[in-house]
Amino acid sequence: METHESALIKVFLVGILVNIWMMRGLSATDTLSTESMPPQPRKACNESRLQWEVEVCGDAFKRDMAHLDPQYWCNLTHFISEYHLFTLCTETKSHIVHCYWPNPLVESYIIRIHKHFFSNCTMEQVVWVDPPDDTLTILILIPVFLTMAMIALVVWCSKRSDILA
Ligand SMILES: *[C@@H]1O[C@H](CO)[C@@H](O)[C@H](O)[C@H]1NC(C)=O
Ligand SMILES: *[C@@H]1O[C@H](CO)[C@@H](O)[C@H](O)[C@H]1NC(C)=O
Ligand SMILES: *[C@@H]1O[C@H](CO)[C@@H](O)[C@H](O)[C@H]1NC(C)=O
Repeated sequence: METHESALIKVFLVGILVNIWMMRGLSATDTLSTESMPPQPRKACNESRLQWEVEVCGDAFKRDMAHLDPQYWCNLTHFISEYHLFTLCTETKSHIVHCYWPNPLVESYIIRIHKHFFSNCTMEQVVWVDPPDDTLTILILIPVFLTMAMIALVVWCSKRSDILA
């Protein structure tokens, strides 16, 4: 059961990582396709403000996790919605302070959060015991899909406003 649980956590984390990598790919192709266009009038990313905002997201997540019995900290079922809110929060805040999302600052903060809460969940060797059941796969894919759809929308809108401008 323990290994099963830890494998699920890994599936979840891999899902997040794949999500982040796909976003990277997306912004890379976006940059390529707009190469011939004049540089976008985009406000500079305020990193000190982003740092502060991301910590606000993290504090909310820590509060949520504190309400949860630590014995459930490795049980995805118990914290997936809080985790999703947390990633969504970092994304929203990044856009507010004119930073791309994901960005190195957000990523390293997320890694810090993972170390804090999930370090004991991933201690075991990397083994893929059973594939997760369908419900869980859907649970994992929904936030991944939503974020991808939202980024695509943001990219599409910014392209559109560029063309219109
Ligand atoms: C970044 O945000 C901080 C805090 O809100 C502000 O004091 C600073 O002036 C901002 N820097 C830039 C370059 O806008
Ligand atoms: C995780 O929590 C759910 C809901 O409380 C429970 O049904 C499930 O058995 C738990 N999983 C583990 C491995 O403890
Ligand atoms: C992980 O395990 C260590 C040693 O048992 C413990 O001190 C630490 O508080 C645990 N961390 C979490 C996040 O559960």
